[in-house]
Amino acid sequence: KSLRPRAISIKAQAVPALTQDDLKKLAADKAVDYVKSGMALGLGTGSTAAFVVDRIGQLLKTGELRDIVGIPTSKRTEEQAKSLNIPLTTLDDHPSLDLAIDGADEVDPELNLVKGRGGALLREKMVEAASKSFVVVADESKLVSGLGGSKLAMPVEVVQFCWKFNLVRLQDLFRELGCEAKLREGENGKPYITDNFNYIIDLYFETPIKDGVSAGTEIGKLEGVVEHGLFLDMATAVIIAGKTGVEVKSK
Ligand code: 5RP
Repeated sequence: KSLRPRAISIKAQAVPALTQDDLKKLAADKAVDYVKSGMALGLGTGSTAAFVVDRIGQLLKTGELRDIVGIPTSKRTEEQAKSLNIPLTTLDDHPSLDLAIDGADEVDPELNLVKGRGGALLREKMVEAASKSFVVVADESKLVSGLGGSKLAMPVEVVQFCWKFNLVRLQDLFRELGCEAKLREGENGKPYITDNFNYIIDLYFETPIKDGVSAGTEIGKLEGVVEHGLFLDMATAVIIAGKTGVEVKSK
């Protein structure tokens, strides 16, 4: 997929000591350089994507961007976009989007991703699969040598019905990788419920996943699994902000 920035091209540049939020904002602002007036946009979810949505809102307000429509990937992003007066649409009305910009939990050297620690994986995958280009924004802490390698959660969205049955099946599927499966809890100590009224089972791996495609296929075969957080071969470019600068990685 070809992609050109709206403004100047991006080169790595030295950046003084910055907080993680500064880095997220830096990556977000660079990504918004790819947004042009008239585009239909996928709006991601999470703390990095929130900077993207803020910036788009700002540029619409100043008139530097016009005629944008957005499809939010979560109720949280929908609320944020509405508060910034970003016009919204749906995949039903706009089945093909120009560009989606979203964060990620892990990015491997081939630009495969783990997403969904924020719980929005299903809508994110639907919107990003419908986009001609998908730009990922992240700080350098998200880089891994293999998916599942951060020791943090790889989420799987499942229907509520007999979720324990699927938790055991998921754990068994990745037993050789030392996988531990846990039902995600919300802040109230009750099961976390997604925007689509499903549960999330988080998978924790001792050893990173070697073959993401076969892992994704095997998870997808389990009845009652709605979606998984492996986003394979979907990203057009990844914008990584780190202590030494901002880098655009593309295949
Ligand atoms: C939400 C996601 C987020 O994009 C991912 O969790 C990264 O979030 P953050 O930018 O806050 O680190 O996939 O479902």
